Amino acid sequence: MQVLEKEILIKEPGKAVKKFFLETYGCQMNFSDSEIVASILKKEGYETTSEESKADIILMNTCAIRDNVEQKTRQRLTEFRSLKKENPSLVIGVLGCMAERLKTKLLEEENLVDIVVGPDAYRSIPSLIEEVEGGQKAINVLLSREETYADINPVRLSENGVSAFISITRGCDNMCTFCVVPFTRGRERSRDPLTIVKEAQGLFDNGYREVTLLGQNVDSYLWYGGGLKKDFDKAGEEQKSNAVSFAKLLEMVANVSPLLRVRFSTSNPQDMTDEVLHTMQRHENICRYIHLPMQSGSSRVLKQMNRGYDRERYLDRINAIRSIIPGCGLSTDIISGFCTETEEEHKETLSLMDEVRFDYAYMFKYSERPGTLAAKKLTDDVTEEDKKRRLQEIVDLHRKHAHESNLKNIGNVYEVLVEGTSKKSTEDLYGRTTYNKVIVFPKEHYKAGDYVNVKVNSCTSGTLIGQIVK
Ligand code: 5AD
Ligand code: SF4
Repeated sequence: MQVLEKEILIKEPGKAVKKFFLETYGCQMNFSDSEIVASILKKEGYETTSEESKADIILMNTCAIRDNVEQKTRQRLTEFRSLKKENPSLVIGVLGCMAERLKTKLLEEENLVDIVVGPDAYRSIPSLIEEVEGGQKAINVLLSREETYADINPVRLSENGVSAFISITRGCDNMCTFCVVPFTRGRERSRDPLTIVKEAQGLFDNGYREVTLLGQNVDSYLWYGGGLKKDFDKAGEEQKSNAVSFAKLLEMVANVSPLLRVRFSTSNPQDMTDEVLHTMQRHENICRYIHLPMQSGSSRVLKQMNRGYDRERYLDRINAIRSIIPGCGLSTDIISGFCTETEEEHKETLSLMDEVRFDYAYMFKYSERPGTLAAKKLTDDVTEEDKKRRLQEIVDLHRKHAHESNLKNIGNVYEVLVEGTSKKSTEDLYGRTTYNKVIVFPKEHYKAGDYVNVKVNSCTSGTLIGQIVK
């Protein structure tokens, strides 16, 4: 009732509709969260704008994973200073992981900021905006045991109309010593599978042809009627026997339509089961691509990271992937220069990369995050210079592997889902193979959302180049 009145008030003729500008940093999960935030605000009568100068409200959905990402956000905030000077009623909000990490400190350190909202408190944004309009600063950083935003139908902010993200879990229980996420996103909980399938079906009916299921650790997905993952043992017998695992969820989403491609991220070497791999193998529309972060090739460093697996277990999972899904695309995350990492241990990372030969990799220098277990218990003793050099060696080796992997694709024909017009030429389209490789080819009469067969003629280290074959 209250909501209805508010909608009428905001949309009252003669009263300008308030516009919000929303900028997102960090992971895919954050982009998915921004779509939830946009949906919450639109329901309250607000509209989006892509021009910050036209906004009544500027929101930044932030990331706290590495210091450099936080610095970028702070830099960007200074750019809003002049807008606020011109329009003192402009509301500026910081959402997401950085908001959760810094809480009230953010209001003290950045006097420009009016609102601070953590990842579990997005539903309160409209009322926080009202508080600010009443002349106060407003904050909600409560983490929740239940919130999964399951009932919210996200407004799609990405423009291609072909691929979309669907969040399936929130939070993380892994407690990797380097990682701030368990502190910023709280304990792990899974979303009701029926709402996930409904969202996928809705997307398909609206022309989408690819969904990516998102979670910090998708293999850990477990629905038993709601509640935290860690409380599963306390659930009743019936709840336990009706529980839905990630493999089952994957199958349910794959069954929406054979024309709907299904991807997922992020997998975890500690939890990835053969059952998931067999489910992939049974459904051609589940893409042949797995993102499996290794972080380090040294079992000792992995132990320091509290990753829950060692080098052998990592290789065991890679072998399982390759034997159950031959040719499966593989990508990874790697951190250089974690606390106490020796030169020998760094070389173990390079040798594990050599053994696996990833198609794609996200590579980072270790960045100590306040409050994490590593910050409390370990020494960040690898020099900045060594971290940088080791990272460069990792990047160079990966480039070589990626290029070799692309060269192997030349001459082959792949089914490609067209995602849109190439950034470099309006005469070309781009899309992806099931292995997640991007391929560019002349348009002919095809458009985004079509499936076409493309023959690879050449490549760079990042992209395949080809032509449609009938
Ligand atoms: N420093 C550097 N990289 C990090 N990551 C997570 N925390 C840190 C950190 N403190 C990387 C990991 C993770 C990816 C999302 O970001 O590789 O898998
Ligand atoms: Fe995503 Fe982690 Fe960054 Fe939060 S801290 S936005 S969960 S990458």
